[in-house]
Amino acid sequence: MKNVGFIGYRGMVGSVLMERLRLENDFLDFKSHFFSTSKQGQEAPELCQNQEKLLLNAFDLSSLSDMDILVSCQGGAYTNKVYSDLKARGFNGYFIDAASSLRMNEEAHICLDPLNGDLLQQAIDKGSKTFVGGNCTVSLMLMALHGLFKEGLIDWVTSMTYQAASGAGARNMQELLMQMRQVGERAHTLMADNSNGILDVDKSVTDLMLSEEFIKDQFKVPLACSLIPWIDEKMKNGQSREEWKAMAEANKILGNIGPKRQIPIDGTCVRIGALRCHSQAFTIKLNKSVDIKTIIELIGNANAWVRTIPNVKGLTTTDLTPTKVSGTLSIPVGRIRKMNIGNNFVNGFSVGDQLLWGAAEPLRMMLNLVLRHM
Ligand SMILES: NC(=O)c1ccc[n+]([C@@H]2O[C@H](COP(=O)([O-])OP(=O)(O)OC[C@H]3O[C@@H](n4cnc5c(N)ncnc54)[C@H](OP(=O)(O)O)[C@@H]3O)[C@@H](O)[C@H]2O)c1
Repeated sequence: MKNVGFIGYRGMVGSVLMERLRLENDFLDFKSHFFSTSKQGQEAPELCQNQEKLLLNAFDLSSLSDMDILVSCQGGAYTNKVYSDLKARGFNGYFIDAASSLRMNEEAHICLDPLNGDLLQQAIDKGSKTFVGGNCTVSLMLMALHGLFKEGLIDWVTSMTYQAASGAGARNMQELLMQMRQVGERAHTLMADNSNGILDVDKSVTDLMLSEEFIKDQFKVPLACSLIPWIDEKMKNGQSREEWKAMAEANKILGNIGPKRQIPIDGTCVRIGALRCHSQAFTIKLNKSVDIKTIIELIGNANAWVRTIPNVKGLTTTDLTPTKVSGTLSIPVGRIRKMNIGNNFVNGFSVGDQLLWGAAEPLRMMLNLVLRHM
């Protein structure tokens, strides 16, 4: 039986991955070892039947090297610290990673099985050992617009995102909930006194959000009752790194590299106060005129998880929301219509669970592809 080491099993992505592996009975196919950067030596949580009892040290290259496959959901700083040292000491197993650090490396392949399963299989057959999950919004965009990419219909696309707090990690999601609690308690106290008008409540809550007392160690600014129109570091061209990833990663996933045309993709990435699920609004420029019925069919039939939502208020406000999609593998796409700016311009809106199709599920499918090959 192959030995699979999991690093970052208790973070946001790691927890969801553990849940998916359990649900699909994948744990039966290998022996699991859990690594931690903070709890090594302690008893490992009981996550599956066939597992090592104690948590291993995630920085111990020797224990890591004993694994046939490493799956890391620990983050970029961790990958930067261990990956090259592991390779240097001759680790020849598979490295499957959720972090962005290695994505654009030549030896790494970005995994999104429903879109590029054939390319991933070819890479395995050729001996590649490094596979990385894509950026969450990028993977969700590709799942949503799979049908149009597959038909080669997209000239360019913009994606304006509305990204959940949990996209930044477990501590950030906890911080959003604590901010919500602070706001809720202040509002509750003020509203209990009938002499306070709504503007008194508004002013007091805003003052609280701007005060030192407001909890913001992770995000640095208020997110509850607000939004943050910047994610990740600044690139030289004025994009944020999150925005830069869209074109770079999507084209790599689609195999548009070397002399092949790169599909231009750009937009503004925004953090909002949703707990889970990233949403995005698309403006899609098609390279030819296609009737709207065909566009809807192409989008809705592209893979087993995408589905179209009729462009009506009722279903859009109930089914095309983070609350509805959270915890599911479903990728609803709605608001599909031709735009006033021209016949080849299509509007769309999609929601996807960034912890599932945006992170854990491509890693789970990759792990299975690798196991089938071994
Ligand atoms: N979050 C997403 O939606 C998402 C989507 C796509 C890709 N990614 C990428 O996946 C990687 C992991 O992201 P993540 O969001 O899963 O990170 P995370 O929730 O911050 O977890 C990472 C590590 O933080 C430690 N940790 C410290 N305090 C914790 C707490 N209160 N609860 C849980 N873990 C805690 C754990 O390590 P120890 O057990 O070793 O202490 C955990 O493995 C990153 O590179 C990220 O960019 C994330």
